[in-house]
Amino acid sequence: MNGNLIIKNASELVTCSGFAAKKGKEMSELGIIADGAVVIEQGKIWRVGVTEAVMSELRASGKDISGFTTIDASGKAVLPGFVDSHTHLVFGGFRAEEFAWRLKGDSYMDILQRGGGILSSVRATRSASRAELVEAGIERLDSMLAFGVTTVEGKSGYGLDRETEIKQLEVMAELNKLHPLEVVPTFMGAHATPSEYKGREDAYIDFVLKRVLPEVASRRLAEFCDIFCEKNVFSVEQSRRLLTKAAESGLKSKIHADEIVHLGGAELSAEIGAVSADHLLHASDEGLSAMAEANVVATLLPVTAFSLREPYARGRQMIDAGGAVALATDFNPGSCFSESIPLVAALAALYMNLTPEEIVTALTINGAAALGRAQTMGSIDPGKQGDVVVLENPSFRFIPYHIAVSTVEKVIKRGTLVFDKLNRRDCSNKNSS
Ligand code: NIG
Ligand code: FE
Repeated sequence: MNGNLIIKNASELVTCSGFAAKKGKEMSELGIIADGAVVIEQGKIWRVGVTEAVMSELRASGKDISGFTTIDASGKAVLPGFVDSHTHLVFGGFRAEEFAWRLKGDSYMDILQRGGGILSSVRATRSASRAELVEAGIERLDSMLAFGVTTVEGKSGYGLDRETEIKQLEVMAELNKLHPLEVVPTFMGAHATPSEYKGREDAYIDFVLKRVLPEVASRRLAEFCDIFCEKNVFSVEQSRRLLTKAAESGLKSKIHADEIVHLGGAELSAEIGAVSADHLLHASDEGLSAMAEANVVATLLPVTAFSLREPYARGRQMIDAGGAVALATDFNPGSCFSESIPLVAALAALYMNLTPEEIVTALTINGAAALGRAQTMGSIDPGKQGDVVVLENPSFRFIPYHIAVSTVEKVIKRGTLVFDKLNRRDCSNKNSS
């Protein structure tokens, strides 16, 4: 496994070429090369182009071709690996009973207010051992990898105390070492107010700022700070206070914004220059234009709207207004217990009116931009990480069309084959390579 790989004869090589978030009409530009090839050397993309041209350049380069693994992608589309830029993947326990309560009419917020919901996962995560969280994490990453995800963001926020928030972030660091899927950690100590601080949200934010954030920042346990800016959770003012301080400590900002009601999270994201604002089901027109203007990526999570039976975010309008949209799963044990990328794609097409081209952009280069990584991943461009998926079908159009079923055949991380559906082979354990 030296990260040297040639993929050739792809019916469509979907490059998504670019080094920043694509906005508005740019989201339709996929930079497709027919009969395409990509050469990855030591984990990084070396050349991309039409197969014949790339292969003759490779021969002329004097490189030892026998040191490269070759994949013939005839009849198959090749794309950048998907970047799932919003998940809560490290948690203890499950909330299947809560799902059943919601089916009977209980609301997500009522369940949280009576001490369930996120707070139920907090109790289970506090009592879970590190080893249990790592083991569950590996299984979840394996499943995501099979959907073609090569980089995933993961949030803390099921600890809401110093020890457990740090434990979740350390588990993500461990997962990064054990699994080929790359995990980008986000500190979300302000996911809810723990029962110890019930009714004292400001005091809890003070605790997070004084007792948890300094260690997260000094040990570089997270790249982003996120907050649930929502009625009866944290106000716009509390969110501004936390994210501003976190930014001073070097953490970039994300916001769970306007998910259940309109509170002004979208406006705040533009004001403070957040990297992304996520959910946005009830974001105002003013908030959305301010975000587009300030280059804040709108991360939309259609499976959460589906699962909560809420209206979908207005993705079509955001793109038409010149915004940059990313799509992600929001995988978590409560509002959205699904890591299914194909379901994200189908719902985005059918209920947000995004085109298949826009969906691919939203899952690749714009997902990378939502993680501040558009320079290094999210497209098939020379110099970027060799993170690539090979579909079993000839076109990217199968991604939303084959509803909720994965079209991904092979997954390559930094030039190494890490998942192959054909062999039913799971090559995901770094230690076995
Ligand atoms: O993105 N809304 C807040 N956070 C998550 C849900 C977390 C949970 O229910 O456990 C979300 O929907
Ligand atoms: Fe979330």
